[in-house]
Amino acid sequence: MGSHLPDPIRIAVIGGTGLQSLADFTHVATLKPTTPWGTPSSPVSVLHHPSPSTGKPIPIAFISRHGLHHELAPHEVPSRANIAALRSLGVRTIIAFSAVGSLQEDIKPRDFVVPDQVIDRTKGIRPFTFFEGGMVGHVGFADPFEPALAEIVQKCGHSLAGEGVVLHDKGTVVCMEGPQFSTRAESRMYRSWGGSVINMSALPEAKLAKEAEIAYQMICMSTDYDCWHESGDVTVEMVMGNMKANAENARRFVGAVLDELSNEEHEDLVLAKHLEGSMKFAGGIT
Ligand code: ADE
Repeated sequence: MGSHLPDPIRIAVIGGTGLQSLADFTHVATLKPTTPWGTPSSPVSVLHHPSPSTGKPIPIAFISRHGLHHELAPHEVPSRANIAALRSLGVRTIIAFSAVGSLQEDIKPRDFVVPDQVIDRTKGIRPFTFFEGGMVGHVGFADPFEPALAEIVQKCGHSLAGEGVVLHDKGTVVCMEGPQFSTRAESRMYRSWGGSVINMSALPEAKLAKEAEIAYQMICMSTDYDCWHESGDVTVEMVMGNMKANAENARRFVGAVLDELSNEEHEDLVLAKHLEGSMKFAGGIT
């Protein structure tokens, strides 16, 4: 038997509704990792992407958040297994994709948003930490997303303006429990709180990535105006229809970000060296 160990995978994409695969990349392996928190939402596809600076193939891991056939509701997504499986493969940077409802008039359906903040409206029923059962850990969550990754995502999104990608550089994502959409009163309240967009997927994923010292940035694509807007209530058909209509742009956008991240100049960021040791363990803090 040969002693060849595959290169660690540093970059992962978690695809959401409408981005269940990355067709333009060379598929090199399908992995089925298990973790102490169960198995991930989908097998992990390992894709190769040539580095624009060296031509060397860069491995990318891809997980479909809602399963290969969209069989997992938001509250059923095994986020701990997803993050732990990626981390065990060596992943230090995650680009996460999510369909969202818009809470602001200027964020139109099919626009993209790079969120920088999140408001947690999940109900505490999703397992949301790795640290329990005798192991106490605390990590800062003031900035739930990675600002240096956000800058790269913003640059890549704007470079696709000619192809019809409309990008909002910042925004607060309200993460609700679901699977039902919001009531009109809730939707109006989230607007009054300063919410920009709403989804069911940012949490606990972003929290677990922080605990795992992984650089994490979400890219949101607006699929509807939620129910506060006079244009009518949100429906699954509306979400899926807009997602499908803009899927090509979503793939192009994520592809451009992977291209940029594959440049050697971003090696330190991709390795998330600045996050090493950010997780603090404490016996005394209660
Ligand atoms: N995902 C897409 N549209 C949404 C909405 N209006 N509310 C919650 N999650 C969504």
